[in-house]
Amino acid sequence: MDRIRIRGGRPLTGRIEISGAKNSALKLMAASLLTEGALVLSRMPRLADTRFLGQLLAHLGAGVEEQDGAKLSIHAAAITDPFAPYDLVRKMRASFNVLGPLLAREGRAKVSLPGGCAIGARPVNLHLEALEALGAQIELEEGYVIAKAPSGGLTGGRVTFPMVSVGATEHAMLAAVLAKGETVLENCAREPEIADLAGCLNAMGAQVEGAGDAVIRIQGVDRLHGADWTVTPDRIETGTYAIAAAAVAGGDVTLAGAEAGHNGALWRALEKAGAKVETAGDGVRVSRSGALKAVDIDTAPYPGFPTDLQAQFMALMAVAEGASIIRETIFENRFMHVPELSRLGAKIQVHGNEAVVRGPATLKGAPVMATDLRASVSLVIAGLAAEGDTIVNRIYHLDRGFERLEEKLSACGAEIIRESE
Ligand code: UD1
Repeated sequence: MDRIRIRGGRPLTGRIEISGAKNSALKLMAASLLTEGALVLSRMPRLADTRFLGQLLAHLGAGVEEQDGAKLSIHAAAITDPFAPYDLVRKMRASFNVLGPLLAREGRAKVSLPGGCAIGARPVNLHLEALEALGAQIELEEGYVIAKAPSGGLTGGRVTFPMVSVGATEHAMLAAVLAKGETVLENCAREPEIADLAGCLNAMGAQVEGAGDAVIRIQGVDRLHGADWTVTPDRIETGTYAIAAAAVAGGDVTLAGAEAGHNGALWRALEKAGAKVETAGDGVRVSRSGALKAVDIDTAPYPGFPTDLQAQFMALMAVAEGASIIRETIFENRFMHVPELSRLGAKIQVHGNEAVVRGPATLKGAPVMATDLRASVSLVIAGLAAEGDTIVNRIYHLDRGFERLEEKLSACGAEIIRESE
């Protein structure tokens, strides 16, 4: 199994090209099942997660073809069988999002309950309730969801989500675009990936309004057609490298192609911590020369501080002056990076959903283990700020979500290499 070795202490300087958003790309790929036409996605990140989903789409009957220039063409001219088996779904939670499109197009689907990162219970009740509101009949049998639409197909409905869920909002959209009549979704997630999905669906002929707001209205259409769509830039990758740039004094990195407006909460926290954030011609420039100060954060649904950047920010706070309180309000088990950061010398105490980070600690390189996707990259950031060598094991988690991580970081002066055991 591969591992990553980092020799810390060198500031990052230079330019990093931001890839397309993993979380958006996965839902856009699922949208391809809604049409007999071809969906061609540009700025597609090449990741283990997008590959897994590509395999599932191919299993369902789609032609999936990588093209030059980070393009992916998906052509689901016909669905061979609307069945998504456990082996193909368990690797990644977002595969579950094929359920809605299959049901909308074929009137029936059987999809395994999902796997994915071990960051809490992560049920799918909100997804299923939304599909039921559109008329679906749902049964759970031996780890599978078996869903049927009424004989005339799904019908528009009103869904008021009891809590904000990115995946359930997207799933409801993916099914409602082909339902008969109007669907109104209330208390929706407002993440930029939701607007990206709506934009793509509309380019395919759907009628979705209000994505990015709490209320989304969808007028169902009879059919969708193929389209070309460019995936929105990855705000989590952007934020991760921005935090990495601030981690060692002297860091100065331009995040090329980043969408500055998608990371407001992070920019505010980084500026309070002593970094400088400026919009650069084609992206965002993050630098730090002075001391780092402790900042408190609470994770929250967009536009709040993203849970997907919590671990990375905690690594930064480990080397900042003072005590920082980090509260995780989205997932109940998302502090698995704490023992690993502590191995590197960070001083962190966890009480329930709150972590108190006392800095500045002098981090020292050590072998550590990646536990989930975002936690693993927090270990990379800590390794960049540590003295000596840090070895991050189990990096398949990193490969799920970060495209060419070592390449992008070493081009900015980091000493980081991938080793095979
Ligand atoms: C998505 C992102 C993930 C990010 C998360 C929150 C993708 C592929 N993943 O995950 O990176 O960390 O948003 O920004 O886009 N919940 C329920 N019932 C449900 C669904 C969710 O109780 O049916 C709960 C979850 O357990 C969690 C909260 O709702 O506590 C928010 O989860 P949700 O927004 O759905 O996250 P995902 O869509 O899974």
